Amino acid sequence: MNKDVIIACDFNSKEETLNFLDHFKEEKPYVKIGMELFYAVGPEIIYAIKQRGHRIFLDLKLHDIPNTVKKAMAVLSSLDIDMCNLHAAGTIAMMEAAMEGLTRSDGSRPMLIAVTQLTSTSQERMEQDLMIQAPMQEVVMHYAENAKKAGLDGVVCSPLEASAVKKVCGCQFLTVTPGVRFADGEKGDQIRVTTPAKARELGSDYIVVGRPITQAADPVCAYQRCIKEFLG
Ligand code: C5P
Repeated sequence: MNKDVIIACDFNSKEETLNFLDHFKEEKPYVKIGMELFYAVGPEIIYAIKQRGHRIFLDLKLHDIPNTVKKAMAVLSSLDIDMCNLHAAGTIAMMEAAMEGLTRSDGSRPMLIAVTQLTSTSQERMEQDLMIQAPMQEVVMHYAENAKKAGLDGVVCSPLEASAVKKVCGCQFLTVTPGVRFADGEKGDQIRVTTPAKARELGSDYIVVGRPITQAADPVCAYQRCIKEFLG
């Protein structure tokens, strides 16, 4: 299994994104493109980044009726991305349909992972707004099991949930974890943070790191530090 650091390119223009990636001369980091950049620029941003030799995680978190998600996934699979995602809350039927849509005629497909409960959702909001009364940990594990049943490759979760997910779904089931900070860095708006070294200990396969790299005075140095701490 290939563990890696994924840089969250949370910019809103092609120019800013490519200027940022210009810092990297030797290595070609795995990058995450989110809704902001994809909706601002469109599929063109995928072609531009792919042409430079980066792997891409397209983080659009799809959630709709199975047929719509299946068709949207078929479009995404033609973009030559490496990983994409959806909300496990869309049900097993929606996740199965997504897998079908994503699989190309030659049988290949990007990796597909599921968001369980967003880390911005508290136990209280889940109970009151979503009317889900079970403990958060149980809900996350149940959604992860559903993703596994539907044949997905893994989940996006907090690094703090990574080892429990592995226990329930097996060690091959991927955990992609945001909320990573250097021990001596700013937390920003993230609350439950861990360092790259701790995320490794907890069993994360991919850490998603944004501002500690994108806002660093020397982004290449910050990226290399992440790689060193995470991969050892
Ligand atoms: O800048 P920072 O390292 O906080 O960026 C983390 C990235 O991971 C952002 O793109 C954010 O949207 C994403 N993310 C997250 N928490 C989740 C899911 C995605 O921080 N639960």
